[in-house]
Amino acid sequence: MIFTNQENSSDMPRRWALRGDLLDFTGAPAWGDTESPAVRFDRDHWLLIEDGRIVGRQASAPDDTWLQRDHTGQLVLPGFIDTHVHCPQLEVIGSYGTELLDWLQRYTFPAERAFADAARSKAGAEVFLDALLASGTTSAVVFPTVHKVSAEALFESAAARGMRLITGKVLMDRHAPDGLRDDVAQAERDCIDLIDRFHGRERLAFAVTVRFAPTSTPAQLAMAGALCRADASLYMQTHVAENRAEVAWVSELFPQARSYLDVYDAVGLVHPRAVLAHGIYLDESDRRVMLARGAQIAHCPSSNLFLGSGLFDWSGAPFPVSLASDVGGGTTLSLPRNMGDAYKVQALRGERLTAWAALHAATRGAAQALQLGDEIGGLSVGQVADVCVWDWAAGPVAQVRDAAARELHERVFAWMTLADERNLAACFVAGRPVVPRA
Ligand code: GUN
Ligand code: ZN
Repeated sequence: MIFTNQENSSDMPRRWALRGDLLDFTGAPAWGDTESPAVRFDRDHWLLIEDGRIVGRQASAPDDTWLQRDHTGQLVLPGFIDTHVHCPQLEVIGSYGTELLDWLQRYTFPAERAFADAARSKAGAEVFLDALLASGTTSAVVFPTVHKVSAEALFESAAARGMRLITGKVLMDRHAPDGLRDDVAQAERDCIDLIDRFHGRERLAFAVTVRFAPTSTPAQLAMAGALCRADASLYMQTHVAENRAEVAWVSELFPQARSYLDVYDAVGLVHPRAVLAHGIYLDESDRRVMLARGAQIAHCPSSNLFLGSGLFDWSGAPFPVSLASDVGGGTTLSLPRNMGDAYKVQALRGERLTAWAALHAATRGAAQALQLGDEIGGLSVGQVADVCVWDWAAGPVAQVRDAAARELHERVFAWMTLADERNLAACFVAGRPVVPRA
């Protein structure tokens, strides 16, 4: 730990100050605005941190009672929030040759079976969370597997790191191979036990985790909806309308439903704490339902490109849109790389995604949609000090590009297009350093 005004010490002080170029949002930038009053950029400022929270921001150096960490010339952002990612899928990233349904059968389900073993789940959770932190992601909404031990491992490993984490045992009682199915009664007992032990403890929260409509019976979906209705503080996570063949399958399985989203909505799963991944094939009526329920779509551009799923209509979304890696359908945990992919998805639709809209979706936008805006997603006084320091450029190509940038949006846009985990200089969770650069 390097403090410029004190001997090096391995202990983290109660109060310390971080100097750099502070960037966050005070509102939601409008679509297409490259200049926005919602952007707060304080070049060469100090962030004051006490007992894990931000307690001040100022232009001048604090007095010597504050240990000082000088990151002059580096970019200081709130830790990123990945709203949809699968812990057990690191080992299937970059698997060749399939769209969603075949990809699940051929690669993903076999890999998830191994998480029945508690030791494998624990090791998997630790590698996964450390990889998130090394990418500058300090909060996440995560899918484990159907196995209760895989959710326990994630909760315990996240608590050990002080991270904000939302997860819950995956529900799937049909159309999945042996070793990956539960049943309604056991799944309900497991969920209730996990809620009792982890929901609301430290920075953990439970999400009712329906994998997707095809792998749950109507009885299991009804049970999941009843859990949500019984406790409005629970989250819900699932997949919706990701792939054309998947959408067609859902309409065969649920002929009475008006749409894929309606399968979930009919049982009470679409609510203000619901995070639905993808949403590429939502229609106008679905969009209105999303807005009315206050639910968010986790947009997963890397995954949508890699699995050939389709091009999400971000500009036409009236509901909140957050940004997510969806590893292992996505090919990187890095949210800056997902921002770059999100720009390309919109470019293919003839739209333009600004750096502000992309960064907001990965920070304040996600936090607000998760009803956690007071805690995470910004660099305001009172928020938890989940903070990352980034190099503006890593390597000679990015350095040339960065030096040529004339104004702030151009500079940040080039950063988000070129940056990845190699740009991360430091990452703090609740004010504590978690991944000092090698
Ligand atoms: N739909 C159901 N399960 C999955 C999954 O693991 N990944 C993705 N991308 N879509 C899904
Ligand atoms: Zn997913």
